Amino acid sequence: MKNITVIGSGTMGNGIAHLFAQNGFAVALVDINPTSLEKALKTIANNLDRQITKGTLTEDSKTQTLGNITTFTDLQKGVANADLVVEAATENIDLKLQIFKQLDEFAPKNAILASNTSSISITKIASATARPTQVVGMHFFNPVPVMKLVEIISGYATDKAVSQKIFELSTQLGKVPVVVNDYPGFVSNRILMPMLNEAFYALFEGVAGVEEIDTVMKLGMAHPMGPLQLADFVGLDVCLNILRVLHEGLGNPKYAPCPLLVNMVEAGHLGAKTGKGFYEYVPNSKATLVAERFR
Ligand code: CAA
Repeated sequence: MKNITVIGSGTMGNGIAHLFAQNGFAVALVDINPTSLEKALKTIANNLDRQITKGTLTEDSKTQTLGNITTFTDLQKGVANADLVVEAATENIDLKLQIFKQLDEFAPKNAILASNTSSISITKIASATARPTQVVGMHFFNPVPVMKLVEIISGYATDKAVSQKIFELSTQLGKVPVVVNDYPGFVSNRILMPMLNEAFYALFEGVAGVEEIDTVMKLGMAHPMGPLQLADFVGLDVCLNILRVLHEGLGNPKYAPCPLLVNMVEAGHLGAKTGKGFYEYVPNSKATLVAERFR
């Protein structure tokens, strides 16, 4: 595989493009929004600068990495030479079905079509194409250049050889791949989201405050971020969507999203990206402060 197309240039899309480009692949980064593409290139350049500051990357490699990325606003042109497409668009099932229909129409017939979805069924996504055996989940974690895991999701119809190819490719990218089957939340979010939901309930029921809950998990369980900070980092709307997928898909009330989370999302307090969640965020700063209503 040489030519990789990444669909969507948001947080996950730009991280995935960064990773492939830094490993020498030719990357076509596609987004309907040109402003989002410009922002993505700036983010990638800033993250490469971090690596230069750390002494893990040279200026030459930065230039090469950026030179490996071409941007497109036209999906048909962006996928024309793809060996692999990794879709990282918004987590919306109708949007993904529509994108995969187009990918199937315009990408070369032997191309593998992967989705970075965190919870939508790969089997369902594959059903929008005439090549379900070549559709697979390739789930990265934020920040993509840093997090080691790739969760590979085999849909009901995915060919074993296709999962194996993605496994080998992930290893080539310096990641540790794990293959799982296609059930709601896969493995990562089947386990992560109930833990985060329990932290929301602990706060909601007054068991402890934001800092206490996060400190317990950071220092007691060696998590790099406490569950409430992590939920803000992932996005509270994303957490709510995934919990709803688990609740609906598994039919068990234990996955019901905490009413506090529902209220926060309805109020537009979505975490770091909106500046407010369980914490408040100062733009361009690492500083966080427990949000006023939880103090
Ligand atoms: N791109 C490239 N490098 C980055 C980066 C980025 N966006 N963000 C951080 N880094 C690098 C830094 O340069 C630094 O590198 P070194 O280790 O070489 O020094 C390293 O990552 C640590 O960064 P910082 O010192 O700035 O910050 P930190 O030590 O506080 O770590 C963190 C930041 C890596 C995000 C850490 O807090 C962490 O691991 N948090 C948990 C993240 C997590 O759980 N992610 C998964 C979320 S779930 C998901 O993504 C999927 C889903 O389906 C919901």
